[in-house]
Amino acid sequence: MKKLIISNWKMNYGPIKAGAWIRAFRRERLPKDVDIAVAVPFVSLPAARASLGRASIPALSAQDCFWAEEGAYTGEISASMLHEFGTEMCLVGHSERRAFCGETDDMIAKKAGSLQAHNIVPVICVGDTAVQRKKGEHMKVVKAQVAAAIAMLKADTKIPFVIAYEPVWAIGSGKPCVPQDARDMHVAIRGVLAKKFGATTSEKIRIIYGGSVDTRNILEYMTTMGIDGALVGGASLDPRNFGLLCRAAVPA
Ligand code: 13P
Repeated sequence: MKKLIISNWKMNYGPIKAGAWIRAFRRERLPKDVDIAVAVPFVSLPAARASLGRASIPALSAQDCFWAEEGAYTGEISASMLHEFGTEMCLVGHSERRAFCGETDDMIAKKAGSLQAHNIVPVICVGDTAVQRKKGEHMKVVKAQVAAAIAMLKADTKIPFVIAYEPVWAIGSGKPCVPQDARDMHVAIRGVLAKKFGATTSEKIRIIYGGSVDTRNILEYMTTMGIDGALVGGASLDPRNFGLLCRAAVPA
């Protein structure tokens, strides 16, 4: 399976800096056999697109959407609007949105379903907290998050979806999950997918890891069985460092 690396800018870079980031990243030498995407704040998507020009790498992703088609939902952006703009992917259920915006599994399921219905690849983020891991509940918690989030998804479509396992305690902490523990979680997640879609189909769904991924540890994740890519925050804010990270993701 082709690996996928996504840069998540989070709430960084308005249109001016977004354009500059894309132009700088376009100068980077990139590995051919890796899909690369960048998740951009809504207002910066047009500037990112303009700076991309005819280039198709990185693919553009949004960081969130709303599930309804249109109507009285002040402040929200629908999947159909993102489709009209031409966004290829969209994150949903990032732990920061679960924590700061009160997003529930049910909301995340509806967002993912709406994205897939509008031909946008949902990247569903799941993850355990430090307390849950300490109590030994992490597998149960994450499996339940995945089962809830995929409730409205289909696997027999041209629009796949991606699961991003991001342990909350590893995000921005400089304390990444050791690859073997991430692998164990990815196996558990694939089990949930297999239950709904069958084993063969579940093998085709990308499960990526996020949480303190950097230029030094990326290769270990990418070469660990069952880890199909990475979702990168801090180490991707500098376009040259993200270029370096993408190159470091494939064995020399
Ligand atoms: P860091 O790479 O900064 O730990 O962030 C991970 C993340 O939350 C990406 O979505």
